[in-house]
Amino acid sequence: MTNAPLNILMMSAEMVPFAKTGGMADVVGVLPKVLKAQGHDVRITLPGYRRIHRGGFDWSPPLATYTVPMDGNPAQAAIIQTTIPTPAGNVPVYLIENDHYYNRDGIYMYEDDADRFIFFCRAVLEGMKELDWYPDIIHCHDWQTAIVPNWLKTIYKDDPFYTQTACIYTIHNLAYQGIFGHRVLEIAGVDEYGFIAHPDLPHLNDVVDFMGRGIFYADIVNTVSETYAREILEPEFGEGLDPILRDRRDRLYGILNGIDVELYNPKHDEYIADSYDIVDIAPKMACKVDLQRAAQLPQRPHIPLIGIISRLTDPKGFDLISSIIESLLQNHDVQMVVLGTGEQRYHDQFNTIQARFSQKMKLFFTFNAALAHKIYAGSDMFLMPSRFEPCGLGQMIALRYGSIPIVRETGGLADTVTNFDPATDIGNGFSFQPYDSMALYATLVRALETYRHPRVWKQLVLRAMSADHSWQTSARRYEDLYRRAMAVRSGQTAQETYQEDQDIR
Ligand code: GLC
Repeated sequence: MTNAPLNILMMSAEMVPFAKTGGMADVVGVLPKVLKAQGHDVRITLPGYRRIHRGGFDWSPPLATYTVPMDGNPAQAAIIQTTIPTPAGNVPVYLIENDHYYNRDGIYMYEDDADRFIFFCRAVLEGMKELDWYPDIIHCHDWQTAIVPNWLKTIYKDDPFYTQTACIYTIHNLAYQGIFGHRVLEIAGVDEYGFIAHPDLPHLNDVVDFMGRGIFYADIVNTVSETYAREILEPEFGEGLDPILRDRRDRLYGILNGIDVELYNPKHDEYIADSYDIVDIAPKMACKVDLQRAAQLPQRPHIPLIGIISRLTDPKGFDLISSIIESLLQNHDVQMVVLGTGEQRYHDQFNTIQARFSQKMKLFFTFNAALAHKIYAGSDMFLMPSRFEPCGLGQMIALRYGSIPIVRETGGLADTVTNFDPATDIGNGFSFQPYDSMALYATLVRALETYRHPRVWKQLVLRAMSADHSWQTSARRYEDLYRRAMAVRSGQTAQETYQEDQDIR
């Protein structure tokens, strides 16, 4: 494989700082910058949602205005551009504008979401021709862009502009597949190719499952940790698509996400009360007292403080947390700060508990970046007992801020947190295996017991903070996957590239 710089086109429904509902936005916000530093020409495309603040960035006038085929209803697209400055040069971000589809309050959850993202994808493929910028690689993220690999193998198969373009599809969350009815095939112009049929997936015979299509057609598929890439081959984690994933195993990889180590840096963080690093962690205490003040909890520097920043939902382990939280607060001298929103029943239950334990627990049912940073810096422990977790970014940020993760051993949590073993003094967190509230409780108690030994705890914090979760290594692995996808596209079988070099797995 050569090392020539690549033209990489990222297609995503979310990107920090423009539009975010989950961790995918963080990934798409950082990975392109690192790829740029590695010498590639990376450009990112996003739908032009109304909520993207037009005043805060320098947006160009339309670079192109053109018609996008949408079955019987062709629609107009315009591309506007801003750039993200990086030390290696500017990274262009293109917004696809269309009033009818994107001039709305939210990002998703509209009846015509299938049309909205088909339009986006088609407008991007047509738009690159308008701009005459040819991508070697199209990197698609989650179901909203999963029709692209399908198109490259069907309606764009003979399009001279795209005959060489390879496509990689990244699964961030297999739980959201984008499932729609037959009409979507017509809108996408792939009606004549029909549904994807799979003998073990009868439910795909009469629905359009975008996620399934991405996995089925992409030259290379990856997900965001090695453990999750293995887990989704089994029915327990496969969300109904494990048979297809097993079939495509020869092109399925796991690459752990990184975090933005400049944004999340306790040494230079404008949101936290004092700055600290591995050389001098003492000022972390001031951050804790500051958090206690913000949370209106008693300002006690030596009480263990547990932070949670999460959606309050079952996949994030809230069923486990909710069954032990009262006993935890009742029986232990501990404080807890929770930031996030989620299912109403958890809001209700946690509100009742907060009223009972107002000196121990504080809820913030919102999302707020400043508070998030304060929690990472001010907490001693960070709780994340997810049922499944493709990667998880919170535990990596927590490690960087010396807040010790308490996690379930699954997906990216298993790949980033090692269970503390007092006998060998190894580990950077606390973890448990069975998805069981007693296992969680026992692990919390183990963490609280360990906290009573300041010298042991300090070593744990130093080990946590010394891990490298920057994007450098993972971006290199993506580059490797891009070249692998190009080899597959040009006729090498996935099996051949797989055997050529196993080091990436
Ligand atoms: C999704 C996953 C999460 C992952 C993120 C970024 O939100 O649920 O585990 O960290 O995508 O890849």
